[in-house]
Amino acid sequence: MDTLKTVRFVGKPVVFLLCLLPAALVVTDAFELTGRLGANPVEEILDRFGNWGLRMIMITLAVTPLRRITGWNWLARFRRMLGLFAFFYVLMHFLTWLILDQGVLLSAILEDLTERPFITIGFAALLLLIALAATSTGGMRRRLGRRWQVLHNAVYAIALLGVWHYWWQVKKDITEPLIYAAILTVLLGARLWWRWRR
Ligand code: HEM
Repeated sequence: MDTLKTVRFVGKPVVFLLCLLPAALVVTDAFELTGRLGANPVEEILDRFGNWGLRMIMITLAVTPLRRITGWNWLARFRRMLGLFAFFYVLMHFLTWLILDQGVLLSAILEDLTERPFITIGFAALLLLIALAATSTGGMRRRLGRRWQVLHNAVYAIALLGVWHYWWQVKKDITEPLIYAAILTVLLGARLWWRWRR
């Protein structure tokens, strides 16, 4: 089997299932089949989806540098799927907040969105992610031409807003958001370095 066929028939289904695993674990843990969600299940679900959203954004951003360093051009074929999983996890994170945390209560939602800046920032990132997910198809890419790349550069803003959102809501220990910030600095730094050399 050549590389493209291996990616399509083996790589993609395997990566798809791996990406789905954290969401599946939330469901099986909720039914106490594989573990537990703990004393505060809503917060646990919110945190798990939020963390996986941020991890998937980082993994998606890592594809291009990894491809350039290794020369494995087939890695680019996973980028769209990874990006859509980032969107999926952030959307689940948002829906957990909207439905389980806020109980779809409009006044509480508006208050949180306007009076808790870290939520405003997260929401801005979600809106950008929706725009990228909606234009992620090959058809939209062709239709938008050069504007597509300009729009999809918003992924860097999304990553920055995501880390900022996390950083801002942490109460004491900033280790984890700091790790994400360091990873993001490396990923963006590599791109700037390559661009500068060109
Ligand atoms: C790209 C978009 C987003 C990313 C990457 C993201 C990521 C995260 C992460 C990593 C956490 C911390 C989880 C932990 O403590 O382990 C978090 C917490 C949280 N996020 Fe988001 N989030 C995003 C968008 C949103 C949106 C749109 C909302 C709601 C409108 C939201 C509401 C919250 C809330 C309420 C918390 C919990 C804060 C707490 O525990 O006090 N996030 N998010």
